[in-house]
Amino acid sequence: MFRKKIEAMQGYVPGEQPRDRRYVKLNTNENPYPPSPRVLEAIQEALGQDLRLYPNPMAEDLRERAAKLYHLKPENVLVGNGSDELLAILMRATIDPGDRVAYPVPTYSLYDTLVTLHDGKAEKIPFPDDFSLPPELAASDARLLIVCNPNAPSGTMIAPADLEPLFARRDRMVVIDEAYVDFADQNALELLSRHKNAVILRTLSKSYSLAGMRIGLALASEAIVEELAKVKDSYNVNRLSIAAGSAALRDPRWMETNVRRIRRTRERLTERLLELGFQVPASQTNFVLARRPGENVESLYLGLKRRGVLVRYFKTQGLRDAIRITVGTDDEIAVLLRVLAQLLG
Ligand SMILES: Cc1ncc(COP(=O)(O)O)c(C=O)c1O
Repeated sequence: MFRKKIEAMQGYVPGEQPRDRRYVKLNTNENPYPPSPRVLEAIQEALGQDLRLYPNPMAEDLRERAAKLYHLKPENVLVGNGSDELLAILMRATIDPGDRVAYPVPTYSLYDTLVTLHDGKAEKIPFPDDFSLPPELAASDARLLIVCNPNAPSGTMIAPADLEPLFARRDRMVVIDEAYVDFADQNALELLSRHKNAVILRTLSKSYSLAGMRIGLALASEAIVEELAKVKDSYNVNRLSIAAGSAALRDPRWMETNVRRIRRTRERLTERLLELGFQVPASQTNFVLARRPGENVESLYLGLKRRGVLVRYFKTQGLRDAIRITVGTDDEIAVLLRVLAQLLG
């Protein structure tokens, strides 16, 4: 039944996961740089007899470490098996059949999938051309609001101060998905101190280079964290991930160094794409959306793929003129740009 529901949804394209290492893989916004050596040490240390034991149900070590880093209490943190799991938990906790969930689009496609799985109704509010906050979102009486900020796939960011009107109604949660926020100039963490209905989602998959470990964080009021914890799997995060995540958050400098490199590459990539005739919204993430308005760029996407460069193409309305390119290493981006110039030349 679930598969049918998902198949019925428009534009669902499962992420490509090539086994062939010769691909330049710029399609799923992973970090091209390795995680901190401290993470690898912590995993080695955790590899032992204790694996016969269940992990701590609330991933306490990691929870405490995250609380320290973000100047919160551990009770304000819920650890998930990736932020994807936290999004699923949020829907499970809040959505009954027929309930509406509102979010600006285009955005992260999992929101559609989860709303459909919970028999909810998605209220998709188009972003204005400049990807600012659509005023209709605050006015919506949906049960749950989600804002992906910075947004995927546009890469753009709404200033956190502009999100204030969303919190006026106290009887619903407002989720700010900050999966990419470490690549941005600002974040919305400060909203938590003023709004008891705010939930901020973070992930260690992108800036911390740990997509393979599946670690996400929900930051919210104690009351919300308590409610969410009631509907999660008992042992949702495994021992190795807890060890890896705690070590990663103990070494934020490593992450920041990689973020600086990625931001520098992002600026150069953007400049070059503009020279090649693309429109590129200013990115605050580790990817860029490259558009050729009025054109269908599927053949460009396929041409790149044939030459061993994977980027993301969306077969959805309004995005057929765009490819989304993850910011890889300088060498990877040089290959991408060379192939793109050939295809366009
Ligand atoms: C906007 C957004 N939110 C959440 C996620 C999920 O991240 P995680 O790897 O923590 O499940 C992604 C992953 O691509 C994303 O793009």
